[in-house]
Amino acid sequence: MTLWYLARASGVMAMVLFTIAASLGAIGAGSRKPEQRFWLQYVHRSAAVTGLLLLAAHVTAVIADSYVAISPSVLVWPFGAGYRPFAVTLGVLAMYGLVFAALVGAARGRLASSQAFTKRWRSLHIAASVGWLLSVGHGLLAGTDRSTPWMLAITTSCLVAVVASAAVRARSRAVQASTPLSLARAGRFR
Ligand code: HEM
Repeated sequence: MTLWYLARASGVMAMVLFTIAASLGAIGAGSRKPEQRFWLQYVHRSAAVTGLLLLAAHVTAVIADSYVAISPSVLVWPFGAGYRPFAVTLGVLAMYGLVFAALVGAARGRLASSQAFTKRWRSLHIAASVGWLLSVGHGLLAGTDRSTPWMLAITTSCLVAVVASAAVRARSRAVQASTPLSLARAGRFR
C-alpha cells in the first residue's frame, strides 16, 4: 500500500505545485515592480521544478505499483493504458506539455541573446498552461479520491487560484495599456 499512497500523495502535491507555478507566473508577468517581479519569477520557477520532481515520483510509483496495470510504455504510447485509459492519457499529455515548457524555459536562459527565440518563447510557454489544465482534468478523472470533499476542495481551489491570477494579470495589462506613457509609445497620445 505504501507505493499506492505515495502515487496519490505525489500526484496531488504535483498538481498543487503546478498550480502555484501557473498562478505566480501569471501575476509575475503582469507586475511592473522589478523586485516583486524577480521574486515572483523565482518562486514560480522553484514551484515548477518541485512539481516536476513530484511528477517523477508520481509516475514512478504508479508504474511500480502492482495494484494498477500501467507499464512504462504508457509514457510513449498512452492510449492503451490498462487502468482508466482516458484519464491516464490526459496525465501523459499533461506531462508532455509541462516537460516541454520546462525545457523551453531552461533554453530561454541560454538563448536570451537571440531575439527570434525570445519573441517565440511566450507562445511556446503556453504548453505549460495547457499541461496544467490537462493535469487538473486527469486528477478529476483518474483519482481514487476524486469525489471526496477534500479532494474536490483542493481541485476547486487550484482552478480558482489560476483563474483569479489570470484576471489579475489581465487587469494590470489593461491598466498598463491605458497609461499616458504606453499610449505615447503606441503613437496614440501627444
Ligand atoms: C502533470 C502530470 C500529472 C499530474 C499533476 C497528476 C496528478 C494526479 C492526481 C492529482 C491524481 C489523483 C490522486 C488521488 O485522487 O488520490 C492522479 C491519479 C493518477 N495518476 Fe496522475 N498526474 C500526472 C501525470 C500522470 C501520468 C503521466 C500517469 C501515468 C503514467 C499518471 C497516472 C495516474 C494514475 C494511474 C492515477 C490513479 C491513482 C488513483 O487511483 O488514485 N498520472 N494523478
